[in-house]
Amino acid sequence: MAANMEVKPILPPFATKQSDIRLFSPEFNKTALRNNMNLRTILLIGASLQAIIGLLPIPRIYVALPAILMLTAKIIDTALVTFNYKANPYLKNMMPKKTTAQPLDRNGDFSGAGKQKIAVLILGVKSNHPLGFFAPDFDKVGGYLKKMSDLLENDQTQESGFLGQSCLNKTDKNGANEFIFISYWRGLEDVHRFAHGELHREAWRWWESTLKQHNYIGFMHEVYEAPASSYEGVYINFQPSLLGATTYLKKDGKMVGGEVKPEWISPLVDANKGPMRTSNNRRGLKDRKDIVDEMFGERNAYEAVGTIGGSKAA
Ligand SMILES: *[C@@H]1O[C@H](CO)[C@@H](O)[C@H](O)[C@H]1NC(C)=O
Repeated sequence: MAANMEVKPILPPFATKQSDIRLFSPEFNKTALRNNMNLRTILLIGASLQAIIGLLPIPRIYVALPAILMLTAKIIDTALVTFNYKANPYLKNMMPKKTTAQPLDRNGDFSGAGKQKIAVLILGVKSNHPLGFFAPDFDKVGGYLKKMSDLLENDQTQESGFLGQSCLNKTDKNGANEFIFISYWRGLEDVHRFAHGELHREAWRWWESTLKQHNYIGFMHEVYEAPASSYEGVYINFQPSLLGATTYLKKDGKMVGGEVKPEWISPLVDANKGPMRTSNNRRGLKDRKDIVDEMFGERNAYEAVGTIGGSKAA
């Protein structure tokens, strides 16, 4: 128990449920739109706008100035940030040094390192169409995805077992765009329950009924369950992401004026020193020398890796 007490979340509890992404939020749409076009298209749009300005009956200086001024401003800004005269916006929300994620139990408590199993669902959606996400009927896919995502993200009880999701974006070898949603769940049974729920079945039926027309819409999924003590991770100078961006509802939260206020806890804990410093400790194998020896024999390389960014003294 004494060891548990040293493992404290780095971030203070949140009063509302946190989401790493929200489908079709302005932020989401901005990234999606940018990803939907390749660099050549973006440059050509800029060049064409410039050409149109050039055709206007205005002095040539006004034709040249906007682009040159905007680029100059951008270069100055980059230089100011690079030479520390201006705060670096990329450091926003960064967790300094080394952190690790320790999922909490169903009560939102830390019941020991590596004690929780975890299921991971990787869901890929892509458009193999020259119009990308603007392809016919792709908005229907987006609509279903949003409904499903909102149902999970808006669940204030966390009874679904859904713990959070992140979205990675990929351009495939042909230049087509993919969204890859990585979501975390308490167990495979939760993923299955959701897959067989009303909303997903409705999406499924729509998809099956229109498969013939939509050979350009691609879906994929992979699902895994990692038993307790069989996974771990480290984030060094990273913003909360993936498992580190999940949140856990604390049951029996704080009483404030006779009312229980919900608290959402981040799983991120310090891994520079103390009990979470080594890979085996993060997996809860501290006292399981038998398992460790069987896996690594004499040469436990991970122990050495565990010292990066931290002091050897635990
Ligand atoms: C991927 O794109 C979505 C929206 O288009 C965005 O919300 C998300 O943050 C992006 N992920 C990364 C890792 O850039």
